[in-house]
Amino acid sequence: MRHALANKVEAAESVREYLAGQEQKSLLRFLTCGSVDDGKSTLIGRLLSDTKQIFEDQLAALERDSRKHGTTGEDVDFALLVDGLEAEREQGITIDVAYRFFATPKRKFIVADTPGHEQYTRNMATGASTADLAIVLVDARQGVLRQTRRHSIIASLLGIRNIVVAVNKIDLVGFDQKVFDRITAEYAAFAESLGFKSVVPIPMSARFGDNVTRRSDKMGWYSGPTLIEHLESVVVEEEAAERPFRFPVQYVNRPNLDFRGFAGTIASGSVSQGDEIVVAKSGKPSTVKRIVAQGGDLRTAVAGQAVTIVLEDEVEVSRGNLLVAPAARPHVADQFAANVVWFDEQALLPGRSYILRTETDQASATVTDLKYRINVNDFAHEAAKSLEMNEVGVCNISAQSPVAFDSFADNRTTGAFILIDRISNATVGAGMILHPLRRSENIHWQSLDVTSKARADLKNQRPAVLWFTGLSGSGKSTVANLLEKKLHATGRHTYVLDGDNVRHGLNRDLGFTDEDRVENIRRVAEVAKLMADAGLIVIVSFISPFRAERRMARELMGQGEFVEVFVDTPFEECAKRDPKGLYARALAGAIKNFTGVDSPYETPKNPEIHLQTLGKTPEEMVEAVEAWLNERDIAEHQYDDGGGI
Ligand code: ADX
Repeated sequence: MRHALANKVEAAESVREYLAGQEQKSLLRFLTCGSVDDGKSTLIGRLLSDTKQIFEDQLAALERDSRKHGTTGEDVDFALLVDGLEAEREQGITIDVAYRFFATPKRKFIVADTPGHEQYTRNMATGASTADLAIVLVDARQGVLRQTRRHSIIASLLGIRNIVVAVNKIDLVGFDQKVFDRITAEYAAFAESLGFKSVVPIPMSARFGDNVTRRSDKMGWYSGPTLIEHLESVVVEEEAAERPFRFPVQYVNRPNLDFRGFAGTIASGSVSQGDEIVVAKSGKPSTVKRIVAQGGDLRTAVAGQAVTIVLEDEVEVSRGNLLVAPAARPHVADQFAANVVWFDEQALLPGRSYILRTETDQASATVTDLKYRINVNDFAHEAAKSLEMNEVGVCNISAQSPVAFDSFADNRTTGAFILIDRISNATVGAGMILHPLRRSENIHWQSLDVTSKARADLKNQRPAVLWFTGLSGSGKSTVANLLEKKLHATGRHTYVLDGDNVRHGLNRDLGFTDEDRVENIRRVAEVAKLMADAGLIVIVSFISPFRAERRMARELMGQGEFVEVFVDTPFEECAKRDPKGLYARALAGAIKNFTGVDSPYETPKNPEIHLQTLGKTPEEMVEAVEAWLNERDIAEHQYDDGGGI
């Protein structure tokens, strides 16, 4: 027992020494693109075995053990690396990406191994999010293929500026220089427009190790570096430390009344005691009093270091704020243009509300304009109304509150974001910000003196949005119409927004594709909001087939203002009633995208009011709605008893 423990401690001790040595070296993160057929696994295996790697998982296990036995204390660099990767894992998007750690005497490396099958874009985006360089594998027998181009275009979009073209299996073409030269020329011509900083072609045989870590004696004509020489010496981008200071606050550290510090990892630039900083969004200035790190106070800290910053003044700073250099501030805007890579099986639909998360901020956001899709095979710009899985597009994005960011070209940490589905909570897309939209800085809220409450009070009522959803022909309009008649007769101020009617005017440009329905509901929800703000009881009667948009409408309204009414009539019954003859035509294939036939209807999960219509008269259903409203004092007259309500 004691023996085993001693062994572990010893192992942990050697890991610690090893890591301490590693700490001094720079780190290169890279990504391999290609398929098994190109020899990708062989290449990674070759790199790992030739450099006497320690596998990430073995190290992690040793490190865990060493922590458990308390011999290594809070450990250094490697733990940080693992943490970084875990953060990505939490976003639920790394499932298929394997990271490997290895080192040579000159540098340490993390290689992201991304499988090249269907989900290539997603996997590449995941692996590339932090990569400095990509190795694009080309089979010497095949030359530059469609997938070579695709991988290179994606790498370029993801901000990778350094490429190695690994012309592999050169042994199978007799180590022929002509083959290598041809591939090199072809690749160079294609990659010209992709904005890479370095493109280094290397002829190699991963299988036999030629020019991977060992210089080949079979290619006297090649005088360039071996792969490992290049990886050890390539200068990646402008060092993060030289860019403007960016410090996303991860949490406020306040162990007692005498200490208040902001903990986080410096995303770029450096900071020294006495430096002036500002809080990006509020613009509040202060001065750095102390920089606290694990081993004590620092005079200066640089990108990549985890520190706690103490300021001279009591400025308001909370989790998610960005401390920045006053002379080089990030943009603060609620609208911007971005490249978006879509990961989800459900297409990205402009107008749909997603959660946008940057390094520091989180806000509801929609794509207001999908400008074009980028064909990742030839870089062409194509018109598109939605983005399917693995597609990349350029969009305008509008967030509900301002976000602090840099352009992705300037900063890959503060210029990136992810999009999260509001219902499934899955990460559905990743984005790279191009630039803010100027209009977002020029339009402000105009404050009005007559408030929403004042308007409603004058009408003696509480505003509400009664949102009727259900299949075409389910009876929404009939019930809505009768309900309005009754409310109106008792002096209530109402308005009915009906799908068929609104589609004749405001929404006449929209059809019945998913994206048009999303936009249809977005617009009517905005109109309903304005009407509720005017103090009205608004009755909305739209199929509104998607949960996401009904939820968006709900969140748009004031607390308790939104009442979802599910008019629940089975499809068969609607098709039988067929008041407009549409079901007959849809079932015969004459109308496309018909709800319930070849377009989905997502039934409400928790509607406030569930009307099962079979066997009931419209009057009975209206009574049910009225009873519900009365119980909650909605649509009741709000008489002032003198003392106010
Ligand atoms: S929604 O799905 O975008 O909310 P909306 O309520 O505005 O639909 O419009 C639905 C009405 O349009 C239906 O009641 C029907 O009269 C008509 N309509 C015409 N084509 C279709 C279709 N393909 N699917 C559903 N309704 C259609």
